[in-house]
Amino acid sequence: MRVGPHEFASNLFLSPLAGYTNLPFRLVVREVGGIDWATTDLVNARSLLERNPRALQLVRTGPAEKLLAVQLFGAVPEEMRDAAALVESMGIASVDINMGCPVKKVTGIGGGSAMMTELNKTAQLVRGMVAAVKIPVTAKMRLGWDENNLTAPDLARVLEDAGVAAIFVHGRTRAQGFSGTVNLAGIRAVVLAVQRIPVIGNGDITTPEAAKHMLDTTGCAGVGIGRGAFYNPWIFRQTLDFLRTGAQSPEPGYADRVAVMRRHLDLMVEVFGEELGCKLFRKPAAWYAKRLGPAKEFKRAVIALRTRAEFEEIVARYSEWRAQFCDERGELQEQYAPAPLKASFLREPDDVAPQSIPVPRGPVDVW
Ligand SMILES: Cc1cc2nc3c(=O)[nH]c(=O)nc-3n(C[C@H](O)[C@H](O)[C@H](O)COP(=O)(O)O)c2cc1C
Repeated sequence: MRVGPHEFASNLFLSPLAGYTNLPFRLVVREVGGIDWATTDLVNARSLLERNPRALQLVRTGPAEKLLAVQLFGAVPEEMRDAAALVESMGIASVDINMGCPVKKVTGIGGGSAMMTELNKTAQLVRGMVAAVKIPVTAKMRLGWDENNLTAPDLARVLEDAGVAAIFVHGRTRAQGFSGTVNLAGIRAVVLAVQRIPVIGNGDITTPEAAKHMLDTTGCAGVGIGRGAFYNPWIFRQTLDFLRTGAQSPEPGYADRVAVMRRHLDLMVEVFGEELGCKLFRKPAAWYAKRLGPAKEFKRAVIALRTRAEFEEIVARYSEWRAQFCDERGELQEQYAPAPLKASFLREPDDVAPQSIPVPRGPVDVW
């Protein structure tokens, strides 16, 4: 896989998820393996230029992150240009532009998915950024504003001309939000629209089969995985193995899942301090819990987590309680195992209980 001057092994990318894809989570998925390139949460270009502490926290990285893209949003060409130069001066490998965010706060200032509606203006802004830095500039978009305005192929073509090094595309429109099916034909149209640069498809990938299906059907060079990685930080490694060998890796056991949660919490505490780290860990912990089997008690306790030591108490209590659902190896008996996940684009019309990926509640409801 190649993006600009960077060549790397894995064509699987961690998709940016505001509030989640912080340094601790990125380090966790990198340690689990199967991924080389990750992107930060979106960062307001102006806030970064003003050295706003929150913006600086979002771009915080470390030596383990050789290939990191900082995702910027904004619509003022000079600010986007200067913010890209600042990102480069921090030694970061790449800068990504958010052209897909449907949230009003972002589109209202002409950023995010509003950029998909004004191709010339967007191309000019991108040219300014490309000229200002040596690191690759990439763009992340949706298929268009709504189904009557599927501008992604035209935009991708224009951006390639403007010097963008890769396109990330979520196969839904802004109007769709997170509902309905990911449109693989829409992603394919973007792949066909560009000549040289890689297109990375994205949306609803929760299994290695879904990743392979998107790659095979659309011809995209790589895939981005967002929410699927919360459930399952092993998804990159499992998918890479599946793409290489066609074989399914065994599911991680309970002890592995607890070890990864513990590592995630330790990194949260290291990066944010114990109080804030524990508070921030509550959200991802609830996602991990979705794959533990019966876990109501664990969720109830972990969403009030306050200290690192408390986590061990919660796990010990939960492990004891969970034993009633397990076999002699300590793994869940089949009838208690969580239902398999299925991507929207792989569902059959007669699937009785299709598993959609929830969108986290809160201010990001409209992502
Ligand atoms: C909570 C949440 C936050 C997101 N934040 C961002 C973001 O900061 N920048 C961005 O380009 N996309 C963002 N997205 C979109 C994801 O990167 C991705 O395109 C989308 O979730 C579809 O992929 P998935 O089904 O693998 O999650 C966000 C999505 C969610 C659910």
